[in-house]
Amino acid sequence: MAAKNYISRKITEDVRSRNNIVDVISECGVALKQAGANYKALCPFHEEKTPSFSVSSEKQMFYCFGCQAGGDVIDFLQKHEGKNFIESIEWLAKRANITLPARDTTYSARQKRINDLSELNTFAVKYYHELLRTGQHSQQAREYLKNRGIVTKTTNLFQLGYAKAHRNDLVKAATHEGWTVEQLVDVGLIKNEDKGPQDRFWNRLLFPIHNERGVPVGFGGRALSDEHQPKYLNSPGTDLYNKSRILYNLDKARQSIARKKSAILVEGYMDVLMLYQHGIENVIAASGTSLSEEHAALLKRYTPEVVIVFDGDVSGLQAAQRGLNRLIAEEIRVRIALMPKGDDPDSFVKENGADAFTERIDGSINLIEFQIQAAAQEKNIRRPDVITRVVRDVSELLVNIKHRVERAEYVKYAARELNMDEGLIWRELRDLGLKETPTASRRTPKKKMTIREQIELQFIQSLLQAPGYIPAVKSVFDHNDISQPHLAKIAEMLWRASENGDTVEIQHILDNCEDKKLKSAITRLLMSGQAISNHYAIIQGCIKKLINYICQDVEQRERSEGDDDLEKLKKLVTLSNERRAYVQKKVEQLKQNTEHTDAATDTTRNAKDIKKEN
Ligand code: UTP
Ligand code: MN
Repeated sequence: MAAKNYISRKITEDVRSRNNIVDVISECGVALKQAGANYKALCPFHEEKTPSFSVSSEKQMFYCFGCQAGGDVIDFLQKHEGKNFIESIEWLAKRANITLPARDTTYSARQKRINDLSELNTFAVKYYHELLRTGQHSQQAREYLKNRGIVTKTTNLFQLGYAKAHRNDLVKAATHEGWTVEQLVDVGLIKNEDKGPQDRFWNRLLFPIHNERGVPVGFGGRALSDEHQPKYLNSPGTDLYNKSRILYNLDKARQSIARKKSAILVEGYMDVLMLYQHGIENVIAASGTSLSEEHAALLKRYTPEVVIVFDGDVSGLQAAQRGLNRLIAEEIRVRIALMPKGDDPDSFVKENGADAFTERIDGSINLIEFQIQAAAQEKNIRRPDVITRVVRDVSELLVNIKHRVERAEYVKYAARELNMDEGLIWRELRDLGLKETPTASRRTPKKKMTIREQIELQFIQSLLQAPGYIPAVKSVFDHNDISQPHLAKIAEMLWRASENGDTVEIQHILDNCEDKKLKSAITRLLMSGQAISNHYAIIQGCIKKLINYICQDVEQRERSEGDDDLEKLKKLVTLSNERRAYVQKKVEQLKQNTEHTDAATDTTRNAKDIKKEN
């Protein structure tokens, strides 16, 4: 995150060490109960009946063993309060009476640029809005809005604007105010053409697009006649406007969405305006793009449920399938409301009123059931090729459901609706990469680990909890020799972090880890070990056993390569003896290496500081 640059690492550490995570999480309304060394609670990030959300005061971390959410106090605020990184730091700094350096001196150049661009956009919004309200040439646009039933209050609330039919009105006005052509290009308002800089929008009704905090980032522009194409012209993606992250109207809708615990997703700007005007305020749209993973993650911060309104035809629904699966993967409940043929939400609510629309929303059907039913109604469903495709489609839907019990229920439902054996659907799900089987899911949720895998896990866990031993271990053990890819990756990160023999700070590794899954895995390993005091003995034992396994691998390979003649046998005996000697040597080497490591650096340096504070 670029904005991170302007908050130094020292500030981050300061802020982290002077805000006890246990207090902060409690203040955010999570009822923590002490349980041994940790605190437990019902997870605020997913629905559950028994607490799997755990907070460690010693480690200053939280982790949910149910939904894998985890991290430090800053991560918690970001996830729970919907703040971004900077906002979280600012909030925590204030809470702990830490004065942050003045923004101006610490702002990165990029942040300054982004600020300038949003100021420029704010200027453009006002400029176009003023034109629409009072301009002499805007009569046609005002008529258009009136004909479509948009009242002045809505026009003002959404700061609708009008771009005149000339091609360089905005260029002139903005440069007159001191903005440069380059800035105007950067923000997507003008284009450099052969005849000079030209406004992107002309003779269009403009819908300013804001991010969730109300900063204008772009525009959607509607043509006023059918001849003028395209019907809607949108700002290009810019440094300020990342289309896969912006949902139209989220700034105004977010409170209502939080209150109703539900968001209504429609297709068009006009749909949003008209519903809002009718008092239905929890409405948003993905303007001019399909729903992305980031959209889903953004929505997840505000709501557990999304109701998608489709204009009558099911083909639109199929087109949106990928986006919808992303919502499901974020564990958002998705329901589908259909409009009568020929209607979109705009025309429907205009004709039938808010109550009729709300009725449709309340009567909306769960997406998964809807899809399964639609699949079950396919023509020629008993034909082998058709049923094969249908089962695959349905399975692709089900594989995204994270909750085991819920998924099992839907598998049952699908089997019933499609009139087929449950086992076939489970097999399809396995082909799609689902690890668990229905029987396994009832007893042991995960595949049992081999002994070697358990040792690897213990090894990495101990190293994370006692990173002081990493430099010594690194010199006798290659991270590539770990058989489980995610553990090998963590080891690689640890090895790399101790490149010049430095002590490894796990917090820094977490701060710099881009891979969400790995980050979560590290947090889980940090949080799930019992308080062990003899890390060294464990690490030594693990290495001994792991090297043994690795040598056995080599022998195995040798063995399978030829016949069991005498020569071969002799060679194997030698190898086996060499293995023993080799392991012994490595362990000796490790002992020597660690002589100077008096105590493992604690991963939770901050804990001491906090205790002092309180
Ligand atoms: P529609 O064509 O359904 O338009 O496009 P609409 O929202 O009903 O608009 P009105 O009622 O005719 O004014 C739905 C959405 O798809 C995007 C816009 O975001 C639009 O609101 N779109 C459509 C474009 O980006 N470009 C286009 O040319 C058309
Ligand atoms: Mn419409």
